[in-house]
Order: sequence, then structure tokens, then C-alpha cells
Amino acid sequence: MATTRREFVKRIGLGAATGLALGHTLSGQRAQAQTLAHIASGNFDNGIMQLNQNESARGPGPKTLEAIRKHTSKRVGRGYAPDHVNELRAAIASKYDLAENNVLLGTGSTPILEGSVHAFCSAEKALVTAVPTYSTSEQTARKMGVSVHAVPLDADLTVDLPALAKLAPSAGLVYVCNPNNPSGTVHGPEVIDNFVRGVMRASPDTIIHLDEAYIDYTDPGAMETALPLVKEFKNVFITRSFSKAHGLAGMRIGYALGHADTLTKISSSWGMGDVNMLGALAALTALNDNEHIEWERQENFAIKTFVIKAFKEMGYEVPYSHTNHLFVNLGMPASKFRDACLAHNILVGRDFPPLEKTHCRISLGSREEMEQAVAVFRQVLA
Ligand SMILES: Cc1ncc(COP(=O)(O)O)c(C=O)c1O
Repeated sequence: MATTRREFVKRIGLGAATGLALGHTLSGQRAQAQTLAHIASGNFDNGIMQLNQNESARGPGPKTLEAIRKHTSKRVGRGYAPDHVNELRAAIASKYDLAENNVLLGTGSTPILEGSVHAFCSAEKALVTAVPTYSTSEQTARKMGVSVHAVPLDADLTVDLPALAKLAPSAGLVYVCNPNNPSGTVHGPEVIDNFVRGVMRASPDTIIHLDEAYIDYTDPGAMETALPLVKEFKNVFITRSFSKAHGLAGMRIGYALGHADTLTKISSSWGMGDVNMLGALAALTALNDNEHIEWERQENFAIKTFVIKAFKEMGYEVPYSHTNHLFVNLGMPASKFRDACLAHNILVGRDFPPLEKTHCRISLGSREEMEQAVAVFRQVLA
């Protein structure tokens, strides 16, 4: 018989403090499995609640965990030609109706971000990016001595695509994070389509990288993948990550989808790392576990709604986020808020210049974590 979340929480003795204030009832079986997994995993990492990295607080879904367990055997002693890696590439290609050479795997999407700057930027060819945005591309360019055009977000904290487009003709690579980290804002398909076509007309040699790491957390209808543009334009590629909604950050798997020549340039200019057997198997299972991804999206949505409401009640502005993190205008330095939270064993996000004097990024943890965290936020902001 299905058990309600409230009954379950009571039964395992967590009391009323856990998970009840969100006003959202999970389907019974699922809630039990997730809550048990959460408790068993000792999720409060070494006593510090980690709201600073945008990983999934819930980890992979039950099917993926089971697949990992099943494949944890002596076979992990063999791995220089690891099982499942080719299978994973083939499965990703098939999911998106692409050939296998249109898929580039990496140990997380990070090496692909780094490799693309190495492949397409140089002393003469700048990187165009937003600020603040996910900073790996910019950091890589700065290490290489490549010039960086970093365009501030607009007043709504969305990526200013017209300003990026104007700078594209001098650029080797334009990086667009959609949805954007840290602001959580998103551009819909028409806007992205117009932007890509505009850049490709004005500067056909420039490469456009659309980073869709958070796509699985977006509200329905808010955005679409830029895959059709990847299929149309050789110079457009997208990256995805298994580190976010799939809950596999520790397994280090990401991928790019693009033209074979574009991907070959990336992989030949930087090491992509060796995807490992268990990681590939986990990603292979998670890739098409649509039920879990939808559950994860809804769970994140409920938690996000709860935390946004709490900040609004406290009188703070929060741009609506399509990710698993919020970028809150606290009107105080992020460092001050971070120190105050850390005194309560909660770690929130780093500085995001030029908004570090006002905004703080808070990654969304589990229900239980965010209820505790909101109580602490209320206290330190009072
Ligand atoms: C927008 C974005 N892209 C890429 C990454 C890199 O993630 P990974 O290397 O785990 O795939 C992150 C990590 O936080 C991110 O926020």
C-alpha cells in the first residue's frame, strides 16, 4: 500500500521538521526511496551543507544506482578499453538522431569547454562571453593570453545576446550559457535562433558554443535545445552534462554535439580525459531514464518555489531561475552572507564579479536541507 510522505517521515522518526512545509506531496513509493537514499547517503557532507556547487542534492535515480551496483565487480580491473563508452556514444547519437562522430564525450563537460577555447581562440581571435556566466571558458582564455570580451548581463540578468553578437566578428568563439549560471535566466528558442543566424551571417568563421548544462531543470516551454541549429551550422555546437539533473557529478561525464570537424578540432587541441567504465554505464542508464529526470525537475521546481517565496517574503529580489540555483540580490556582499551562513555550517556560492557586492548564488539542496537553510537565512538576514 502506498504510504504518504508525512506518514513515512513520521515512521522513520524525522519529526515534523523534515520536508513538510513545502506543501507538495511526492508520490509515496518514490518519496520513500528518495528520502531513504538521502538519509543513508549521509547527505550533510561532513557536517557542512553544500549549497555552493549546483550538483544534484539527490544524486542519480534508483535505476542508475542499481546499474552501478550491479556492475561493481572484478570487471573494473579491466578498463584501458573500457566497456560501455562506445555504447554511451552510440546511445547519445541515436537519442539525438546524429552520427557517432557528432558526439564528443569528456570527463565532465569541463574539458570540452577548455578544449574549445584552445581550438578556436588565439592571440588574434578573442573569446566573447557574458559576465557573470559559467567561467571556465573565460578562465581558459585568460590563462592562454587570449583577449576576452566579457559583456555584462542586461537589467533582467539575462545574457545580452545583441551585445555579444556585435562583438562576434572579431572573435574565434562565442560562449552562451543557456540557462545562464549563475543568474538562472533563460533565452527561448526564437531569440537563440535569431542570435545564431545573425552571428553566422555577419561572421561565418566564428564558432558558437551553447552550453545547455541545466536544460533538464527548465520550466516546460521556457527553452528548447539548440540542436536543430547544430544540425544546420557546422560552426555551432552544444554541450551537456550528466553532473546536474542526472545526479552524476562524481562520475565526470559530459558531451558535446556538433559537426564532426568541429568536434575533432576540440578533441585534438585538449585532452578530454578517459571516461570510465562505471561512469559510462551510469550515464547510459541515466540518459533515457525520462521518468527520473522529470521527477528531478519537479522536485527541484517545488524546492525552488519554496525558497524563492521565502526570499520574497523577506523582501529580496530573486530573478526567476530555470536551474537548480538562485542568484539572490541581498544588497550586501556575497562574502558577508557566505561567512554568516558558514557559521551555521552552510556553504553558499562564491563571488560572481561584477555583482559580488550585491548578489549571492545559492545552490538548491534537498527539501530537508532547504528547510533548514531557509531558517538560517531568515536568522542571518534579520
Ligand atoms: C553551465 C555549466 N557548464 C558546465 C559545467 C561543468 O560541469 P561538468 O564538468 O561537471 O560537466 C558547469 C558546472 O557547474 C556549469 O555550471
